[in-house]
Amino acid sequence: MKLTNLIGTDQPNQTKNTFISDVIVGLSAAQKSISAKYFYDDIGSELFQKITQHPDYYPTKTEFSILEKINSILPSILNEPEIDIIELGAGDGHKSQLIINGFLDSGCKVNFYPIDISEKAMELLAQNLSINKQLHIHGVVADYFNGLNHLKKISNNKKLVLFLGSNIGNFNQTETNVFLSQLSAGLNQDDYVLIGFDLKKDPNILNKAYNDSDGLTRDFNLNLLARINRELAGNFNLAAFQHYGFYNPVLGAMESYLISLKDQEVRLAKTNQTFHFKAHELMHLEYSHKFSTAGMTQLATSNGFEIAELFFDEKNYFADALWQVKT
Ligand code: AVJ
Repeated sequence: MKLTNLIGTDQPNQTKNTFISDVIVGLSAAQKSISAKYFYDDIGSELFQKITQHPDYYPTKTEFSILEKINSILPSILNEPEIDIIELGAGDGHKSQLIINGFLDSGCKVNFYPIDISEKAMELLAQNLSINKQLHIHGVVADYFNGLNHLKKISNNKKLVLFLGSNIGNFNQTETNVFLSQLSAGLNQDDYVLIGFDLKKDPNILNKAYNDSDGLTRDFNLNLLARINRELAGNFNLAAFQHYGFYNPVLGAMESYLISLKDQEVRLAKTNQTFHFKAHELMHLEYSHKFSTAGMTQLATSNGFEIAELFFDEKNYFADALWQVKT
C-alpha cells in the first residue's frame, strides 16, 4: 500500500491536547459529557470490533447483507472502466473488500483510497485486503476533508465515497448537514457517495443492540473512563459508574450515559484537577441517530445530492443510500 500523510508530525501532540481540553470542558459542564469520538483508542476499537460480531448488535451484519446484494449492481450504475473508491474512516476492510470485488469482477479498474487520521488503523485495513492487479491501494492519512480535497486534485476519475456503518448517526443535526455539504463540495458533479443509515425500528430491538447480553457495550463505554485514567492519570473507579443506554423516541436516537453510583471525586493528576460527581449524576457519551426514508431524502436534497438508489435489507433495519452530487 502506498501512503500519503497529510498530517504534520506534531499531530499526535495536537490530538492529545484536544483530548485533554475536551475532557476538562466535558467534566466541568453542568451536564457532564465526553464525546463518542474518543471511544476508539486501541482497546476501544477492539471492543467495538467484538460488538459488531455480537448477535444482539444487528447493524454490521445487516449492512453486510445489503452490500453482498448490491456489490454486483453498483458497477452497472456507475458504468466506468476505472474508478476511485474513497472510504471515510478505515474499518476492518471486510465491507470495503466486498464493494471493491464487485467492481473488479465487472472488469472495472479500482483505485482504493481509505482516508483516516490513524495510520495504524490504515495498516490494519490494508492487511485485510487481497492483492489484485486491477486494484491500487493508496492510504491517505488525513482528516476527511483535507483528504478529499487532495484526491480531487490528483485524479479525474469518477469517485465513489463510502461512509458506512451508520457512523453518520453519531453527529447531531447541524454536524450532519455541515458534513454532507462539505462532502458534496469536496467532490465533482455526478460523483457518488454510498452512506449507511441505521433505521428507526422497534425500540426493543434497539435497546437490545446497545445493551448486549455479554456487557461488551458496557465495557466499551467504561473504557472511556479507563482511557482517561491511562492517558490523563485519572483515578476513575469504573465499578462506581453504571452504563445506561436507551432509545429516546423524541430525538430518534439511542443515547448512552454513565451514571455515577455514589457521591464521589475524580482526580486527573495530569491536569491537577478534581471533579465532583453527585450520586445518580449523568455523564453523556453517545448519540446514535436512527433515520427514516423521509429523513434521508431531506438530508440528500438539502446538501447537494440527488438520490440515485436506496438499498434496504429484508427487515428494513438498515439502508445504504447511493447519492449523486448534483449542485
Ligand atoms: C460506530 C457509531 C455506528 O452507533 O451503533 C456501537 C457505535 N455504540 N455500540 C453505533 C456503537 C455502541 C456505532 N457506530
